[in-house]
Amino acid sequence: MIIARSAQELKDALALKTGSIGFVPTMGALHIGHRTLIDAARKENDTVVVSIFVNPTQFLPGEDLSKYPRREEADFKICELSGVDILFYPDAGGMYGEDEVRMCAPDVRGFILEGASRPGHFDGVLTVVMKLFNIVSPTRAYFGKKDAQQLALIMQMVNNFFMKIEIVPMDTVRENDGLALSSRNVYLSPAERQEALKLSAALKSATKMVMQGNINSADIKANMETILAPLNVEYVVIVNRGFESIENVAIGDTIILVAARVGVTRLIDNVWM
Ligand code: PAF
Repeated sequence: MIIARSAQELKDALALKTGSIGFVPTMGALHIGHRTLIDAARKENDTVVVSIFVNPTQFLPGEDLSKYPRREEADFKICELSGVDILFYPDAGGMYGEDEVRMCAPDVRGFILEGASRPGHFDGVLTVVMKLFNIVSPTRAYFGKKDAQQLALIMQMVNNFFMKIEIVPMDTVRENDGLALSSRNVYLSPAERQEALKLSAALKSATKMVMQGNINSADIKANMETILAPLNVEYVVIVNRGFESIENVAIGDTIILVAARVGVTRLIDNVWM
């Protein structure tokens, strides 16, 4: 595995490769969820590039940028063992200069839900993803459905800017007890981890209601809010793939999303139906 620490090193390494490039952008602290993305990229492409970069521009002042988990040695090993060809591991100075052009998330879809709780977050995500796409020039890029709004906005950016990259959405990976894998789960104490299970339990209960024939969004939401009540809930929403609220669940075009704080840790989860 080649470790490229600058855009130039990455371009030099890619110059020696031919065929398709599968790209998995990450912020490190890799877990099985990332591994699933890398495995899919490995299966579907000639060359696999993974980036590890804790992108400062997507953290708001006061968020967890400085304490975001960093696990260089373990991450490198995971990439190597997963058959990654090139690991891109830049520093902030290599990715950003002063007074730069930046991407702006769309006025509506970029500032609801996650964008309302974290205004400006998606500007930072889209800016870094645009930079990464331009450095790597991937054929396909792999993103988890757990960050549903991020995924939708990246797909929109690729469309709006006529970019020739296939975005591959991948299902959320869960622990046996239902907890969605996230690099931020390491912040949870054992008691908080137990509380955090209410997110997946609420989504499971919502799925059950739909399967039993109750597709009314208000009913589903009320039921979920009861399950989530002990937590500090930020939102429970039922939207279509365009992120517009819907009165009734429509199979094939619905995402149910939840965001809540467990202690000081902010968690998100969702189910696609
Ligand atoms: O989902 C993430 O890990 C990050 O938001 C991403 C897409 C790597 C951009 O920094």
